[in-house]
Amino acid sequence: MKYLTIALAKGRLAKKTLEILEQAGIPCEEMRDPHTRKLIFTNEEKGLKFFLSKATDVPTYVEYGVADLGVVGKDVILEEGRRMYEVLDLRMGVCKMCVAGKPEAALFLERGDLIRVATKYPNIAKDYFYNRKKQTVEIIKLNGSVELAPIVGLSEVIVDIVETGSTLRENGLTVLEEICDVSARVVVNEVSMKMKNDQITEITSLFRHAV
Ligand code: PRP
Repeated sequence: MKYLTIALAKGRLAKKTLEILEQAGIPCEEMRDPHTRKLIFTNEEKGLKFFLSKATDVPTYVEYGVADLGVVGKDVILEEGRRMYEVLDLRMGVCKMCVAGKPEAALFLERGDLIRVATKYPNIAKDYFYNRKKQTVEIIKLNGSVELAPIVGLSEVIVDIVETGSTLRENGLTVLEEICDVSARVVVNEVSMKMKNDQITEITSLFRHAV
């Protein structure tokens, strides 16, 4: 039997995905070991191979077909814009993609001012401001702790995910506009969908029953 290869985003999402797999009768103890530095895990009995990759790289592994299937956030799917099928919403890792800033920044959005937008998601920010809002802005790419930008004056607003809202609150920022809902999705390579349809249907129905 050919292996079915699954790319998982390292971190919080991987942990939750492993819980779902365990509920579905697929043991994953080896992957849950917090001290392991291994990146590939094989379950011979079930014919599964798991890759642990950086979240933003999951769509790349899936588009190129080295992973048949992946579990990754909708934020990453939108940002990466890779060719693949999105087949299931796992309804975990639920949060919102938002425009946030100091409360007074609401006026800049209302007037459509040429403002600076700091974000880890330049493609999502571009699409939102240029295509949906028709507002010209300057996008500044950051790699994390984006909330710092409006506090120190790098940008007027940020585009980022908001889960509990505590990072914004603790930094005197607020949600100004909501862009879209975000949650973990199962994605599938286009060729694998045809060539390994039975295995993919089996594993996605396991996921479907667990959510
Ligand atoms: C994410 C996001 C926000 C925070 C939102 O950051 O970029 O900063 O979580 O969560 P909250 O609404 O529950 O406070 P992450 O923890 O991934 O770290 P990073 O900003 O360094 O990428």
